[in-house]
Amino acid sequence: MRILGIETSCDETAAAIVEDGTIILSNIISSQVEIHARYGGIVPEVASRQHLLAIIPIIQKAMAEANTSWQELDAIAVTIGPGLAGSLIVGINVAKAIAFSRALPIIGVNHLEGHIYANWLHEQGDRPAFPLVCLIVSGGHTELVLMKGHGDYLPLGRTRDDAAGEAFDKVARILGLGYPGGPVIEQTSTSGDSSAYRLTRPWLKGTNDFSFSGLKTAMLHLVENISARGMGSLPVADLAASFQEAVVDVLVTKTIAAAKRHRANQILLAGGVAANRLLRDTMVRHSPIPVLLPKPILCTDNAAMIAACGYYRLRGGKVDSLEMDIHPNLKLA
Ligand code: KG4
Ligand code: ZN
Repeated sequence: MRILGIETSCDETAAAIVEDGTIILSNIISSQVEIHARYGGIVPEVASRQHLLAIIPIIQKAMAEANTSWQELDAIAVTIGPGLAGSLIVGINVAKAIAFSRALPIIGVNHLEGHIYANWLHEQGDRPAFPLVCLIVSGGHTELVLMKGHGDYLPLGRTRDDAAGEAFDKVARILGLGYPGGPVIEQTSTSGDSSAYRLTRPWLKGTNDFSFSGLKTAMLHLVENISARGMGSLPVADLAASFQEAVVDVLVTKTIAAAKRHRANQILLAGGVAANRLLRDTMVRHSPIPVLLPKPILCTDNAAMIAACGYYRLRGGKVDSLEMDIHPNLKLA
């Protein structure tokens, strides 16, 4: 079964063709990152406009690369939220138009659920094994969920303030490293000493919740103190490495504790921050149960994960109607 996935929730315009929820026939991603980098963050109006310009050529490219004709498509899956309203509208309207004109089933997909389903895009070998605990760490979300079956989510914990990716982005700005922060902090950290600054960890003992804004403020004070003492140039690599390690330490420790408590068979990582090498390696090294990781390119926003999620929804007999709407504040459960 071939599904066209469409994703326009934030600043990536993406389309992909996925067969049977696992085999990627094409995965086209057009990033607007260079445009938004000028402003130090995403400008919603600009994002919406760029999606409008890019969406049709991206879909055509996805179809061509997958060597797939319109007749060979079985369904359309599209992100309906959470995300920027003006961005979501572009994807959902194109998806509706194709579904209407080709009389195809349409499936509205939760973007966070899509991130989780990136873990089904392994062509051979590992498959997620229920019950599992998934840590979703993206620019807008930090969520820990227990998944007992397809579409069955029990929220265990979430961030009380900044998302993990948001913390990376804000700290990168404090360190003068630009946008987006995650990849640049990871890169800068490679030449830094992660034990140079002993940052306190926000454990929030007794809950599965997270908090990262205190860590961001601690970084700000550290930078201000170093600058005020006029001790030459900022030790950016050491600061970045110390920050990255503090975030990873908390994410890994709390995820493993939750997985043990709920007797999970597996830990899954998902979302843009799951592309982070230190997070991936540390989780695998410390977890007593198997850890499944999407390829880094499938951690950040893409449409293959949306098509994969759509496949399992369709298999469960769930389709949507052409009257469906966007849901900018959609929750996982
Ligand atoms: O999932 P995603 O592509 O978009 C959202 O749904 O938000 O996540 C983007 C976030 C950004 O905050 C970005 O800084 C972060 O993921 N990110 C990373 C890395 N790559 C992307 N954070 C840490 N390390 C990375 N390698
Ligand atoms: Zn995302």
